[in-house]
Amino acid sequence: MRGVVIESQDFRLTTHPDPVAGPGCVVVQVRGAGLNAADLQQARGTYPAPPGWPADVPGLEIAGEIDQVGPGVRGFAPGDRVMALVGGGGHAERIVVPAELLLPVPEDLPWEQAAGFPEAFSTAWDALVLQAGIRAGDRVLITGAAGGVGTAMVQLAAVSGAHTVASVRRPELHDRVAALGAQVVTPDQEETQGPYDVIVELVGGPDCLHRIALLRSRGTVIIVGVQGGDTAPLRMFDLMVKRARLIGTTIRGRSPAEKAVLAAALRTSVVPLLARGRLRVPVDATFPLDRFADAYARLAAPGKFGKVILLP
Ligand SMILES: NC(=O)c1ccc[n+]([C@@H]2O[C@H](COP(=O)([O-])OP(=O)(O)OC[C@H]3O[C@@H](n4cnc5c(N)ncnc54)[C@H](OP(=O)(O)O)[C@@H]3O)[C@@H](O)[C@H]2O)c1
Repeated sequence: MRGVVIESQDFRLTTHPDPVAGPGCVVVQVRGAGLNAADLQQARGTYPAPPGWPADVPGLEIAGEIDQVGPGVRGFAPGDRVMALVGGGGHAERIVVPAELLLPVPEDLPWEQAAGFPEAFSTAWDALVLQAGIRAGDRVLITGAAGGVGTAMVQLAAVSGAHTVASVRRPELHDRVAALGAQVVTPDQEETQGPYDVIVELVGGPDCLHRIALLRSRGTVIIVGVQGGDTAPLRMFDLMVKRARLIGTTIRGRSPAEKAVLAAALRTSVVPLLARGRLRVPVDATFPLDRFADAYARLAAPGKFGKVILLP
């Protein structure tokens, strides 16, 4: 099978042996695979793949049809449409996935949308609901809200009944983000819409912790993305006065059991909303596998609305 490989901090398309489904696993024929900033970090050598996953094949989320079912797997059969958040290996024509990570793809959902669902919506559900504990009526600020994770965060905050303020620096994307259920502001207008119960940090940068001052008493800042800079001074007095919680999170470093629990939460609580059309996966661009270099270039470029997807 063909698949992308990381070599000398760059990507190359090559031929890999066809995978075989071991115990508890299935082989998925990949129909679509999302691209994520972590793929670029992995290529730069700053974010290695978690144990048990291909160390040199990027791709953290896939959708496709089950091709082989390994020993001990129940409830899945060849031909089933599935999607999954994986630890790597997704940018290839086939991948081995533990069955406990599989999510069903709703009938009629196009592959490109299914492929962009697992990473963004797992991150968003985990951060907003399971960790920050947002509730109906909360005011939520989401920074960097036009990207893959931001568009998922905005929708999940809105369906949770929160008043959602999305911070988007490009005015040309404001209407599209607003259509997902948010009030949209530019970064310099964030303060006018506070105070907030929850602030989701998807950008980072040296000033990002100043947003603690925009919290309501006992509010939460949850740090999910720091591509704009991973070092910021903390005014501890603001944190104390607000009696605030400051949370940092990643999914990559979690144990297989923790990832299976998160997948179960997605199956129960989020996939049904996708199936009913209450959530959608905005897709910025799609590329065939042999245009992988263009896909990674689009991922790295500014001005996206939603996800970049490879269609092997
Ligand atoms: N912790 C986790 O488990 C986890 C999981 C998934 C992703 N992440 C991280 O979350 C972040 C967002 O991921 P994504 O997939 O949504 O990325 P994305 O699709 O590239 O979106 C990033 C968004 O942030 C905006 N942005 C970047 N720099 C900005 C700045 N200085 N000021 C204002 N807006 C800025 C971008 O706007 P422009 O288009 O204008 O540049 C874009 O809309 C990334 O850092 C990613 O690594 C973390």
